Amino acid sequence: MTPHPTAQPLTAHSAPPLAGHVSLPGDKSISHRALMISALAIGESKISGLLESQDVLATAAAMRAYGASVERGGDGVWRVSGLGPGGFLEPQEAIDFGNAGTGVRLTMGLAAAHPFASTFTGDASLSSRPMGRVLEPLQQMGADVIARSGDRLPLSLRGADPMAPITYRVPVPSAQVKSAVLLAGLNMEGVTTVIEPVATRDHTERMLTGFGADLNAETNADGETVIRLTGMPVLKPQTIVVPGDPSSAAFLIVAGLIVEGSDLTIENVLLNPARTGLLTTLQEMGADLNIANERLSGGEAIGDIRVRHSTLKGVAVPAGRAPSMIDEYPVLAVAAAFAAGRTVMEGIAELRVKESDRLDAVARGLKANGVDCEAGADSLAVTGGLVPGGGTIATCLDHRIAMSFLVMGLAAANPVTIDDGATIATSFPGFVDLMAGLGARIERGVASA
Ligand code: S3P
Repeated sequence: MTPHPTAQPLTAHSAPPLAGHVSLPGDKSISHRALMISALAIGESKISGLLESQDVLATAAAMRAYGASVERGGDGVWRVSGLGPGGFLEPQEAIDFGNAGTGVRLTMGLAAAHPFASTFTGDASLSSRPMGRVLEPLQQMGADVIARSGDRLPLSLRGADPMAPITYRVPVPSAQVKSAVLLAGLNMEGVTTVIEPVATRDHTERMLTGFGADLNAETNADGETVIRLTGMPVLKPQTIVVPGDPSSAAFLIVAGLIVEGSDLTIENVLLNPARTGLLTTLQEMGADLNIANERLSGGEAIGDIRVRHSTLKGVAVPAGRAPSMIDEYPVLAVAAAFAAGRTVMEGIAELRVKESDRLDAVARGLKANGVDCEAGADSLAVTGGLVPGGGTIATCLDHRIAMSFLVMGLAAANPVTIDDGATIATSFPGFVDLMAGLGARIERGVASA
């Protein structure tokens, strides 16, 4: 994928020890859901700590397009007045979700349960991603879909009246698919059931319960998670405080581990067990991570993470852990590049259908920086040690590829350049300035000789 016409190359240079205490922008998954579920509650919900990234702003605009009142009151502070399940109005125009996979897939669930047409578009990255995984259950519920070949955007869908609840076993571990089915199920009589063979992040379930929906999740005899949601609930407005995003914290954590002498603390990070696979893996690699001040906030576990520079060793990362760290593999691969020995990651085929083919983008990026690795169909093996650096990375409109390789440049022997930092704003606006505040050197432009 070619860089955007307004691409902003960035170069990361070897950094002095990183130090400081920081709070990070709000969790992206929870921010999307806070806007959407508030848009379904009757009355005004108040959200603070909302991630104001391009992806989440696209969801805010979408909720407005369906008739909800969505107002920004100040930094991260938003008020949303919703319409009740079934209360959405037909949007007047196509809805452009930019780069936002979670935004478009969850909104398709909401839209499919309404008997009018919605049309969705996105950027080149989003338009190359498979939407069939979400469309298939929505069609089973009664929605009609017209999509570009391969079930890609742009696409239009129209709900039937009435729609029928289904029992759906999610074929790939995907919180987006699960959530789209549950959100559609809100606007139909009866019980919608989702069966997850492998558990994924459960923010939709937690938040729907918090808003008063009748939702029950249990583990069956086969170890699968079975979620049952009764349709047509009365959702009551809530006050939501969005915790810091662990997927954003991941970049600071790995930076702190690999830059010699570092000691930094990241406050108020979401510690939902379905999101902490990276922390477990890094601890197995020998990372000095200390989690303090653990507490509950709005039904989610949060805490402060202290990171100190550590000597890392390679490990085997089991396939079963993938859903709890699915967005963190690119930056884990960077940590692995600095670890002694081999790190083997398995069960990661899903990386091929993220904002880019992340398995491929990571492998190419590692090789461009002199790191030995082997990519398989659903695995990646990285042999770590000294990292020469000096490479230029094609970020392929993928924010996590961009940030991961900037982190690599902070500890590599030579600077690392990414072809486009603009995409970072989809999930982590202010990343470069925040890193600079900790002591990192990330400069605009390509490396000077
Ligand atoms: C997300 C689920 C994951 C993750 C994405 C956010 C969510 O995607 O990669 O960044 O908020 O539900 P999948 O559902 O495709 O695994």
